Amino acid sequence: MAVPPVVAVSGTVNHMNAAGPGASLERATRVEFCLRGTAGEGKASGRLTGAARAVSAGHGGPGRSGLRMRVSDRGPGPLAAMSGGLPMAERTAAPSGGDATGQEVLLATKLYVPRPPAGLVARPRLAEALADGRAGALVLVSAPAGFGKTALLAGWIRGEGRPAGWLSLDAGDNDPARFWRHAAAALDPVCPGISGRVGPLLGPPTPASFQEPVTALINELAGAPGDDEVLLVLDDYHVIEAGAVHASVGFLLEHRPPGLRLVLASRSDPPLPLARLRARGQLTELRAADLRFTVDEAAALLRRAAGAELPGESVEALAGRTEGWAVGLQLVGLSLRGHHDAVGFVAAFSGSHRYILDFLTEEVLDRQPEQMRAFLLDTSVLERLSGELCDAVTGRPGSQAMLEAVERAGLFLTPLDEVRGWWRYHPLFADLLRARLQQDRPGTLPALHRAAAAWFDAHGLVHEAIEHALAGGDDRAELRRPGGARRGRDG
Ligand SMILES: Nc1ncnc2c1ncn2[C@@H]1O[C@H](COP(=O)(O)OP(=O)(O)O)[C@@H](O)[C@H]1O
Ligand SMILES: [Mg+2]
Repeated sequence: MAVPPVVAVSGTVNHMNAAGPGASLERATRVEFCLRGTAGEGKASGRLTGAARAVSAGHGGPGRSGLRMRVSDRGPGPLAAMSGGLPMAERTAAPSGGDATGQEVLLATKLYVPRPPAGLVARPRLAEALADGRAGALVLVSAPAGFGKTALLAGWIRGEGRPAGWLSLDAGDNDPARFWRHAAAALDPVCPGISGRVGPLLGPPTPASFQEPVTALINELAGAPGDDEVLLVLDDYHVIEAGAVHASVGFLLEHRPPGLRLVLASRSDPPLPLARLRARGQLTELRAADLRFTVDEAAALLRRAAGAELPGESVEALAGRTEGWAVGLQLVGLSLRGHHDAVGFVAAFSGSHRYILDFLTEEVLDRQPEQMRAFLLDTSVLERLSGELCDAVTGRPGSQAMLEAVERAGLFLTPLDEVRGWWRYHPLFADLLRARLQQDRPGTLPALHRAAAAWFDAHGLVHEAIEHALAGGDDRAELRRPGGARRGRDG
């Protein structure tokens, strides 16, 4: 079947998990879409269906992921994956070994408590404030990017050894069904079986209201044996814009079982009934003013990042210039490695956070060997990284060793250690790298995205494959057919 040239594409990708955790999963993937052709072609629509079978890695499935796509016309060409009735390839390949599918590995990267950065500076004053918060319904850690929210919570949860579920949110979690499926999966280790029991209530079909599944989740938690308090950490809550998600989180807070504490880390205050919770003494807040590094904390961070003791007045000046901003201090520390004139260096920069960031990123990047610099820029297009994926994107072997070197260099790469071989850049650092890439060699961006799309496609990760294909400006994306055959222009 010939496919009309694409003017606009819109659609959703749904992953439906039909079995509980620990079981053999039968997963159906469905892509619904609508293609609008150029003049004369009218409208074409179709559906991509298929199933993937995999052995669960111990968590509930990835749930339902919403994807809104928009592609502007870049000339004629088929978006072959979406040209109707095309069954999906079985997902058998695992990006980093083991039996789990790529989708499960990626999901797992969202559910594990990140490892705190090497050289974590203990901040007992903040840990105390968090511990006080255990009396309330909600702990809100609200501060701009790079203030140390994730490091603080990860260090706290790991140190406490208390039952806790962790979910690192991303834009796809604006779909309330996916959000709650992921939240239930995050709670599975502390409330075994919860995701398998709540999951079916999340559809398909999508429920008209999320009160019923959230009520079921509340009842599951309330009925769980033991009186241990359970923490549910939702990191990067600022990515949530969907009113339906906020409303259902508000419902959970309003009706929460006594043993549950919600912990949110966000760059901005979420539209939740904070004033009411505050008035009832149910809200603990940590904000930028609390998270700023004190001079002593800054001295410890700088010592570890710079690998040398700095004079007291330099530390004070740096803590002042960066306003105790963790990511700024870390960058300063890295820039100071091997610098002889720390005081002069400190005097050389001033200005806004953004300016400091650009300035310091430049400093830090320029100090890296060319190969590492190129690697950082090339891989900045990726949300999560593995050696194999980076090999595919950069077109060079040896990425695993390079990732380890980047981590050792303190360059904002967090290992997701329970998920062997996967890392994640700090989003702020990734943004800076991408800006630099765009500035230095904009021409390479589409090729990097396309290489990523091809890798995700080959591993059955439709959602990520499509996102990268679209980011690469590719309206001719070809996704895999069963048996490895590819769908071409004429299908
Ligand atoms: N307690 C800490 N000890 C050492 N470094 C830290 C600490 N907190 C933050 N950092 C540094 O700051 C960076 C940003 O911290 P992160 O917690 O990811 O910020 P946020 O979650 O607020 O964006 C980390 O990658 C690390 O380099
Ligand atoms: Mg964070």
